[in-house]
Amino acid sequence: MFLAVLYCLLWSFQISSAHFPRACASSKNLMAKECCPPWTGDGSPCGQLSGRGSCQDILLSNAPSGPQFPFKGVDDRESWPSVFYNRTCQCSGNFMGFNCGNCKFGFGGSNCTEKRLLIRRNIYDLSVPEKNKFFAYLNLAKHTVSPVYVIPTGTYDQMNNGSTPLFNDITIYDLFVWMHYYVSRDTLLGGSEIWRDVDFAHEAPGFLPWHRLFLLLWEQEIQELTGDENFTIPYWDWRDAENCDICTDEYLGGRHPENPNLLSPASFFSSWQIICSRSEEYNSRQALCDGTPEGPLIRNPGNHDKTQTPRLPSSADVEFCLSLTQYEAGSMDRTANFSFRNTLEGFANPLTGIADSSQSTMHNALHIYMNGTMSQVQGSANDPIFLLHHAFVDRVQYFHRHSNVLEMLFNLLIFEMDKYSSLISQ
Ligand SMILES: *[C@@H]1O[C@H](CO)[C@@H](O)[C@H](O)[C@H]1NC(C)=O
Ligand SMILES: *[C@@H]1O[C@H](CO)[C@@H](O)[C@H](O)[C@H]1NC(C)=O
Ligand SMILES: *[C@@H]1O[C@H](CO)[C@@H](O)[C@H](O)[C@H]1NC(C)=O
Ligand SMILES: *[C@@H]1O[C@H](CO)[C@@H](O)[C@H](O)[C@H]1NC(C)=O
Ligand SMILES: *[C@@H]1O[C@H](CO)[C@@H](O)[C@H](O)[C@H]1NC(C)=O
Ligand SMILES: *[C@@H]1O[C@H](CO)[C@@H](O)[C@H](O)[C@H]1NC(C)=O
Repeated sequence: MFLAVLYCLLWSFQISSAHFPRACASSKNLMAKECCPPWTGDGSPCGQLSGRGSCQDILLSNAPSGPQFPFKGVDDRESWPSVFYNRTCQCSGNFMGFNCGNCKFGFGGSNCTEKRLLIRRNIYDLSVPEKNKFFAYLNLAKHTVSPVYVIPTGTYDQMNNGSTPLFNDITIYDLFVWMHYYVSRDTLLGGSEIWRDVDFAHEAPGFLPWHRLFLLLWEQEIQELTGDENFTIPYWDWRDAENCDICTDEYLGGRHPENPNLLSPASFFSSWQIICSRSEEYNSRQALCDGTPEGPLIRNPGNHDKTQTPRLPSSADVEFCLSLTQYEAGSMDRTANFSFRNTLEGFANPLTGIADSSQSTMHNALHIYMNGTMSQVQGSANDPIFLLHHAFVDRVQYFHRHSNVLEMLFNLLIFEMDKYSSLISQ
C-alpha cells in the first residue's frame, strides 16, 4: 500500500506490494477500511504529532487495466489496496512505512535526516566472515516471526468483507516469499473458475521497479531484524557462467550426493522448508497460500529443458540489453519487441530484441536453469538464489541509462561501479 508514487509512472499497469501490518488486520480496521496505525515514537496515528505524516484517503489511478486482464472487480489486487483499505498513512519528508515509522531508502537517523549510501557487492567479493554473516542473517529471517506483518489466508470475500479476518503469522523471510506468490498468483473467479493469464509483477513494465522495491523492502526488514543498518543483498554476476558456480556448500548449497533434486545436507539451506509452491492445489480449493511448510527446496541446476534455455546469459547479451534505448515498447507484455524490460526479463532474443515465445533467456534463463523451486514463478523466492539473481538483474537495470525516470526514484542505491565497468560502456 505504499506504492502510490509508482502508479503514475507505470503506464496502465498496476503494482501491488502486499504488506498487511498486524496493526491493521482486525475486523475493526477492515470494516472501517482504515490502516493508519500509531507510530510508536509518539503514539499518534502515522506519527502525526511529530510531523511524520497523516491519515489520508488513498488516491487511485483511473488508468484502465491492460487488455490482458478482461475483468473488473473480481480480484482483491485490483486498485490495490482499495479492496481492503481506503485510508492509509501518507508520510511527509523522508519518512515512509505503514505508520511513517521508517526512513525513505537512502536516509537514516532518528529523524531520517542522515544520508545513507548503501552498496551492494558481488558475493565473491565478500570475505568469509561477511559471507557467513549474510547467510546467518537469512537463516535468522527464515526463523523469526515478523512482529510487524501478517499474511491473509483468505480473500476479502472469504473474510466476509472484513467482518471475519483470516490472517496468519509468517517469518520475515517467508513474508517476502508470500508477497512474490501473492503478486503473481492466479485469479480465483469462484466455483472452479481460474484466470491464469494475470501477473502484477512480471511480463509488463512493472517487472523491474516492482522487483527493485521488493529487494529494498526485503533489505530494510533484515536491517531492522539484525540492527545492521548497512546490510545489503549481494549479487551473483551470472554473465558467462558455465554452470551454477554459487551452488556449493560454501555459498548457496551444493547438490545432494544421493538425490540430484535436493541440496547437500552440508548446506545451510538444506533444512529450509518452502511455502507457496502448490498453485494448482490452491486453485482447486479456490484458496490462498497460507504459509504452511511444503517440503525442502528443490534445485537441480542444469537439468532443465535445453531447447527452451540453451545457455546462460553472456556479457554480450547484457550489453545488447543495455543498448536498447526504449525501456518499454509496443504491447508492453511478453510479446514486446525491442523493449529493454522484455529483453532483460527474458522473453526476447538477447541478440535481436525480438520476442520469442519458445525461448527463456536472460532473467528467465536463470530461473529455468535451476530446474526446481526457482522455476515456478509463484514460489521462486523460496530459493535464496532468487535474492542474488534479482540483485544482479537490478544492477543491470541500474546501468540502463535510458530508464532514468525509474532511476530517479531509486538513485540512492549505488553499486560498485569500478570493478564492473564493462557494464557502463555505452
Ligand atoms: C472508505 O470505506 C468506508 C467503509 O466502506 C466508506 O464508508 C467510505 O465512504 C470510503 N471512503 C472513500 C473515500 O471511498
Ligand atoms: C528530531 O526531531 C525532534 C523534533 O523536531 C527534535 O526534538 C530532536 O532533537 C531531533 N533529533 C535529532 C537526533 O535530530
Ligand atoms: C460483500 O460485499 C459485496 C459487494 O458490496 C456484496 O455483494 C457481498 O454480498 C458482501 N458479502 C458479505 C458476506 O457481506
Ligand atoms: C555503517 O556504515 C557506516 C559508514 O561506513 C559506519 O559509520 C557505521 O558504523 C556502520 N554501522 C554499523 C551498525 O555497522
Ligand atoms: C526440470 O527439467 C525437466 C526437463 O529437463 C522438466 O521436464 C521439468 O519440468 C523441470 N522441472 C522443474 C521443476 O522446472
Ligand atoms: C515482433 O516482431 C516479430 C518479428 O518481426 C513480429 O512477427 C511480431 O508481430 C512483433 N510483435 C509485436 C508485438 O509487434
